[in-house]
Amino acid sequence: FGSVADAAIVEHTFHVQNLTITRLCETRVITSINGHLPGPKIEAHEGDTIVVHVINQSPYNISIHWHGMFQRLTPWSDGPDMITQCPIQPGNRYTYRYNVTGQEGTLWWHAHVSYLRATAHGALIIRPRHGVKAYPFTRPDKEETIILGEWWNANVVDVEQEALNSGGAANISDAYTINGKPGDLYNCSEDQTHKLEVESGKIYFLRIINAALNTEFFFKVADHNFTVVAIDAGYTDPYETDTIVIAPGQTVDALMRADADPGRYYLAASPYESTIGLPFANITTRGIVEYVSNVSASSYSDSTPIMPVMPVANDSDTTYRFYTNITGLVRSNSPAVPLQVDEDMLVIYGLGLTPCRPSQTKCNATIGSIAASMNNVSFLFPTKTSLLEAFYKNEPDVYTEDFPEKPPTTFDFTNASAITNIFTAKGTKVKKVKYNSTVQVVLQNTAIIGTENHPIHLHGFNFFVLAQGLGNFNESTAVKKYNLVNPQVRNTIAVPAGGWAVIRFVANNPGIWIMHCHFDVHLPLGLAMAFEVENGPTPNDVVPPPPEDYPTC
Ligand code: C2O
Repeated sequence: FGSVADAAIVEHTFHVQNLTITRLCETRVITSINGHLPGPKIEAHEGDTIVVHVINQSPYNISIHWHGMFQRLTPWSDGPDMITQCPIQPGNRYTYRYNVTGQEGTLWWHAHVSYLRATAHGALIIRPRHGVKAYPFTRPDKEETIILGEWWNANVVDVEQEALNSGGAANISDAYTINGKPGDLYNCSEDQTHKLEVESGKIYFLRIINAALNTEFFFKVADHNFTVVAIDAGYTDPYETDTIVIAPGQTVDALMRADADPGRYYLAASPYESTIGLPFANITTRGIVEYVSNVSASSYSDSTPIMPVMPVANDSDTTYRFYTNITGLVRSNSPAVPLQVDEDMLVIYGLGLTPCRPSQTKCNATIGSIAASMNNVSFLFPTKTSLLEAFYKNEPDVYTEDFPEKPPTTFDFTNASAITNIFTAKGTKVKKVKYNSTVQVVLQNTAIIGTENHPIHLHGFNFFVLAQGLGNFNESTAVKKYNLVNPQVRNTIAVPAGGWAVIRFVANNPGIWIMHCHFDVHLPLGLAMAFEVENGPTPNDVVPPPPEDYPTC
């Protein structure tokens, strides 16, 4: 192992600022970091410390989340708005500071306020510790970051407000993008097509991030296969596939060997949407993989690229296969799956309806307003004090500790007609757990409005994915499927639409940690809850005081 002396401080300054940019023939002002879309790439080694000074020169409140970073004993740097901090207001600044420990691979960072992550996001790459350790797979020749996203002609903050006022579904985006570029299937976008130049025989390390607000993607390159080697910054057993499936929040690291006939090939991402879901424009974003010759200048730039055959949008089989077949790579220092469970939870979640609120001026009173919930609690974000600050100061009346560990009633969760009268109550409820306890959560999708794929993300921890399935969770049959040997390790799980997943984690990080749907359309509707992890027994297991520049409301 490298010694502590090898560890570096990786320091960045993020200016949150307006950027005037043209996509799809529309010129718009968006919120960017340092004037770039995607924003700056952070590159660190395991063991380093990351320090980012965020200076808000934009007209909007902002906070930045380091998606997948453990933030052990640095909960003040986690970033979700009103969970671990009040937002950084226009004209103000805040410095995030945290260690990179025990994870390697690709993560990312994004704004965690309203819909701003649509344009304020970037890659966060963690390489093996300085000096000594190498990748546990064939050494790649070159690496490439591929960020899948969405472009909106409308102002994204307005899109969210409009949906909340009307109590209905939000608008969908106008294009999908690869590294901020829509690609040549969209109007006016031929010159905004991402290009990856490859040399025959070389191995390319693709670091794929899904930064889209509301879209799960299939990703392919025509005539090329992938070897998946990591997901969510945790190594996997090598997994061969020609199709990658990736939900918002997730990352996939895959090796691609340039072993096709030299030429041009499209790399493409198209949406996966389970049968009942958001409406979407079934258009594909694509870029070009172009072989270049190492001897002479490129001779393929005029040939027509070959297009991969994309799965149909509701191809749940391909999705299920990809999500369930990957296993984690067990190494000498990998944490083992804890076998004893201290907190055993069943959390049902999905969309439902709730009566219109007076503030929802455009809400249709007969239909009601769309709400989303976990165990029938629609999460209400506090407005004056962040949950973490309330936890630290023992301040009452900000949240209650009665998040239910089971649903209020049992019904046929994945049969839409089984239940019509389950109304959602709003609340700021947390589940309190002891330091170092093992928490198991069965995540069960419901069909109250209709089943839908939801990527569930937990802050502060990775979790083991023990099993997944369709229909209603049944413990006696599910338990036989539990992988306790080499389960995949993730921070975001795309629970099968109309199905369930069992996750398990050790609550070794005191503080407040949100668990939520990573579709931004569902978060403000309440598809969230939070864990309150108590302080541990020694001074080394206790939430330290907030930094001096900690933003208050
Ligand atoms: Cu990537 Cu709470 O988010």
